[in-house]
Amino acid sequence: MSPRRTAPNSRGRVGVAIPAAGSGVRMGGVRKVFLELAGRPVLEHALEAFLAEERVVSVVIALAPDDAASPPDWLTSLDPRIVVVAGGDTRSQSVRAAIAALPDDLDVIAVHDAARPLVEWALVVRCVDLALGGVGAVAGCPAVDTMKVVDVDGAVLDTPDRATLWHAHTPQVFPAAALRAAYEAVTGEGTDDAALVERCDPNLKVMMVDGGPGNLKVTRLVDLPLAEALLARRPRNGP
Ligand code: C5P
Repeated sequence: MSPRRTAPNSRGRVGVAIPAAGSGVRMGGVRKVFLELAGRPVLEHALEAFLAEERVVSVVIALAPDDAASPPDWLTSLDPRIVVVAGGDTRSQSVRAAIAALPDDLDVIAVHDAARPLVEWALVVRCVDLALGGVGAVAGCPAVDTMKVVDVDGAVLDTPDRATLWHAHTPQVFPAAALRAAYEAVTGEGTDDAALVERCDPNLKVMMVDGGPGNLKVTRLVDLPLAEALLARRPRNGP
């Protein structure tokens, strides 16, 4: 038995919401979650780490409405825990639709962008363990570049202290009640899930979890060969 299974947080019911309904505007309108990386769709890679986690009881994937109406066979036959719903016009709407379709009796909910195919099982476990302890857990990595605050013309307004800045990735994992409350209470868009939780419940501690720079989001065409190279070097993605 692995040491993790004897840890205090080794029990818990985990739901996963996967927003996958983007239109791929920055890729020229390509449905990037169905693009193949190393012979398998980006979405399948993104699901791997969650399906390998035994505490995950349900995975709801928000697809573009026409894809949700006739999802691909490989997806519907991949794992009995998978449910497909129609996403919305924005990421927040898609996450909201996915959360609504998760079971009621969950301890924590993880949100993960389908566009991050390199997520590792060990990172999922670290974030889930933290959230089961009652805090929010946001995968990310410290900023290595100096960051600038600019106006609409690109003129520099400020140079914040880099030591205080992190990139926020996914998964972002929260106690289920806190995430549901945030998506019910906060209207409008957040650029990530933690932003909504922070606004809804400023007293909930949210921790950054260093998942390294390799958990990249496939956003532009140039990201594809990079993601493929990183996938080729990745060890087995599971317990
Ligand atoms: O556009 P961006 O790369 O930030 O999208 C992050 C994730 O949100 C992607 O997995 C994308 O498919 C998803 N998304 C969604 N519904 C939208 C827009 C984006 O599920 N309307």
